[in-house]
Amino acid sequence: MQNKPAFISLFAIALCAFIGVANASIDTTTATGMSANPREYTEDSFLYSSRWEAGSGAFAIRKAKKNYMLHCATCHGATGEGNGELAELLGDGVKPRNHTDAKIMSQRTDEDLRKVISGGGDSMGFDAAMPPFSTILQEKEILGLVKYLRVLCKCKGKDS
Ligand code: HEC
Repeated sequence: MQNKPAFISLFAIALCAFIGVANASIDTTTATGMSANPREYTEDSFLYSSRWEAGSGAFAIRKAKKNYMLHCATCHGATGEGNGELAELLGDGVKPRNHTDAKIMSQRTDEDLRKVISGGGDSMGFDAAMPPFSTILQEKEILGLVKYLRVLCKCKGKDS
């Protein structure tokens, strides 16, 4: 009987140690799992350069980037290069556009881009794998995305 409290506290110490180790390993997993993308997101030197911070459209561009990450990056990739997680699964020969490709993107007017985002790929003769966003996003959010695409391609539209 005398040994019982000692046994219990030993058990408690062991339990704490175990929880400590388990927690530590959970923490590291979360930390490594989370760090890669958000860091890429916040330290994007181009987007957060003074050019955008100074302009009145800075907020709109940030919001557009959030929307891009949320709705577009799965296919077009976080940096817009067309290499999102779903890109490989869309079917033979179907590739999300590389939005950093200035050669192609400068051949499109801003209105062309707005229409594709709003009405989906097939509304503009592209593959229907590009979904329509007119019911998901507001018109001004779509216009924000058009601006953001111009950030990604570092190019102007055919009409501007
Ligand atoms: C399910 C995958 C998928 C998602 C999500 C997606 N796209 Fe696409 N997108 C595509 C594919 C595939 C194409 C290319 C279609 C083709 O080449 O025929 C494309 C093409 C485009 C084009 C046409 C480019 C051009 O050459 O004119 C634009 C603009 C575009 N996407 C913007 C967006 C934006 C903005 C979002 C988010 C709001 C988005 N896409 C979300 C798959 C996707």
